[in-house]
Amino acid sequence: MEHVISMRDLSQADILQLLQTAAQIENKELQPDISDKVAALLFYEPSTRTVFSFDTAVKRMNGKSIIMAGTEASSVKKGESFSDTVQTVSQYVDIIIIRSILEGAARYASEILPIPIVNAGDGSNQHPTQTMLDLYSIKKTQGTLSNLNIALVGDLRFGRTIHSLVYGLAHFGVTFYTVAPKHLKLPLYIKNDPALANVKFIECDSLAEIIPLLDVMYVTRVQKERFADPVEYDLVKNSYQITSQLITSCNPKENFKILHPLPRVHEITVDVDPLPYAYYFQQAKNGLYIRQAIIATLLGAL
Ligand code: CP
Repeated sequence: MEHVISMRDLSQADILQLLQTAAQIENKELQPDISDKVAALLFYEPSTRTVFSFDTAVKRMNGKSIIMAGTEASSVKKGESFSDTVQTVSQYVDIIIIRSILEGAARYASEILPIPIVNAGDGSNQHPTQTMLDLYSIKKTQGTLSNLNIALVGDLRFGRTIHSLVYGLAHFGVTFYTVAPKHLKLPLYIKNDPALANVKFIECDSLAEIIPLLDVMYVTRVQKERFADPVEYDLVKNSYQITSQLITSCNPKENFKILHPLPRVHEITVDVDPLPYAYYFQQAKNGLYIRQAIIATLLGAL
């Protein structure tokens, strides 16, 4: 691996290797050292988990980081192009982690720069490091990635974490139950992608009907920032809500877990948090080990 841009680029072997490396980092069998390296975190869009877990991952491995959190204090405000910005930053650092509103931005940077690039989210397209931590969380809680029943709930149209996750799990014989409002269904260019020919998608309207079948429920926020029309957002923003009452009344499997990439808005009520099924904060913690594994792999520090 030279870059991490899209889950479409990662083979099953790449995925399993990264998961194993992350597990070895978590249990301290591996302690990569990047003390001679500097990472740039260029975040053109807001972030809490991704930016801080990448920054922490660099620091846990004794590396250094520089961060652009939004464009307000950078020369992007003076009109500097994306191309000029990343070419300049690449003169100072060993790896660049990029979040952009523009689909394809990280891919473009990987094509013009001689250092590793990591896509930390590009518009509605991909969020591969989130998917890697999602896979790590699923494997940790289910003991396997194979033959699971997974519900995808919420904004399947604009949610880049969903678009990445279906490609990541496609290697492992998954059945997806998709639950979304009419205008937020999974895009056809993904559902009908020949690369996903072996993936089973079952559309559902009722969460109560499928909860007893599920190993994992992956819930997403309706992506307000991607809507051109705020009225359209208002119509769908409260379409689904996961409550403690809903979950406990449906007799979930013992191993059932609720995942969410976070941030949440209305879609999971806080009374779900104490349930043994709620796993979203541990999921965010797992991002640290996965991001250490990704950086150490790309920098040849294993
Ligand atoms: N899951 C995720 O990408 O969260 P942030 O937007 O806070 O980084």
